[in-house]
Amino acid sequence: MRVGILTGGGDCPGLNAVIRGIVRKGEQTFGDELLGFHDGWRGVMDGDFELLSVEQLRGTLPRGGTILGTSRIQPFMYDDGVDRVRATMAEHEVDAIIAIGGEGTLSCSRELFRLGLPIVGVPKTIDNDIGLTERTFGFDTAVHIATEAIDRLHTTAESHNRVMVVEVMGRHVGHIATWAGIAGGATMTLIPEEPFDIAEVCETLARRHQKGRYASIVVVAEGAKPKEGTLEIRPDEFDEYGHIRLGGIGNLVRSEIERRTGFETRVTILGHVQRGGSPTAYDRVLSTWFGVAAIDAVHDEAWGQMVALQANRVVRVDLADAVKELKYVNPQLWDVAQQFFA
Ligand code: F6P
Repeated sequence: MRVGILTGGGDCPGLNAVIRGIVRKGEQTFGDELLGFHDGWRGVMDGDFELLSVEQLRGTLPRGGTILGTSRIQPFMYDDGVDRVRATMAEHEVDAIIAIGGEGTLSCSRELFRLGLPIVGVPKTIDNDIGLTERTFGFDTAVHIATEAIDRLHTTAESHNRVMVVEVMGRHVGHIATWAGIAGGATMTLIPEEPFDIAEVCETLARRHQKGRYASIVVVAEGAKPKEGTLEIRPDEFDEYGHIRLGGIGNLVRSEIERRTGFETRVTILGHVQRGGSPTAYDRVLSTWFGVAAIDAVHDEAWGQMVALQANRVVRVDLADAVKELKYVNPQLWDVAQQFFA
């Protein structure tokens, strides 16, 4: 078979390991020809690709980013986008496409599958918010990076008697914040799923500091929201899609804590550091597993399906079901996190 591979959306540690897994089993076991499309769906529409081989992928397992490049461009953004995808597939005799991506890329893949295209999905995002898979690769790496940063912030917070606000990624969900908050021993964690009251945050910090301990870490997911009517967010803190800008909420929480409590407060915005660099061992293994499972799915003609981790096994689920709703923080784990607030 001739199988196309693309990586779409934000990059993520482990993408190259997925590609390597697909190519290894595809070439070695099935005798496939593998085409790596550049910059996600853009490369498919433009017929822009390179041939991939086991030999060529040597050394990519520990490498962050994606050797294929990525973009958020999708065929449905253009009147002739889907026709261009079909034309490329026909011209280069592509039998199937493996789309590695997050919610946007996978939703687009589901639509293309509905139009009859042979597509298999692989869930990717550091946010860990794709439905029907217990894990997405990249998440473990992001949690490690955030935890290490929190560990470092503890010592400087203690030295200076400060409150440290740490903003982590997670626009719609607080998986990274919750895990890194628990792992790093945060004083409080604010996530999109649980709107916060800044007055309560400040009271908690004040109570803690009365006990004579004056160093606190507040972990804030970038999508954390104040409870309605408790704190105003300025219009210029939203981007053109209505999302709070990266750094918007962290800065706001920092200044409100300092203003309301008088405690010296600093903010650290981890941003894209969480997405860069080498994947952890766990993410390398999960990515490799997903890659091998994806090429198996192609040979079973499991079109419109996505590989997923469930109960320690890699299974297949319908793309349509996987993208129906985001996976939010497990309430049981959130309860654990809350036990340690203050
Ligand atoms: O979806 C992954 C993610 O890293 C989110 O956590 C974050 O909100 C977003 O991508 C940032 O996107 P960009 O790289 O376009 O700034």
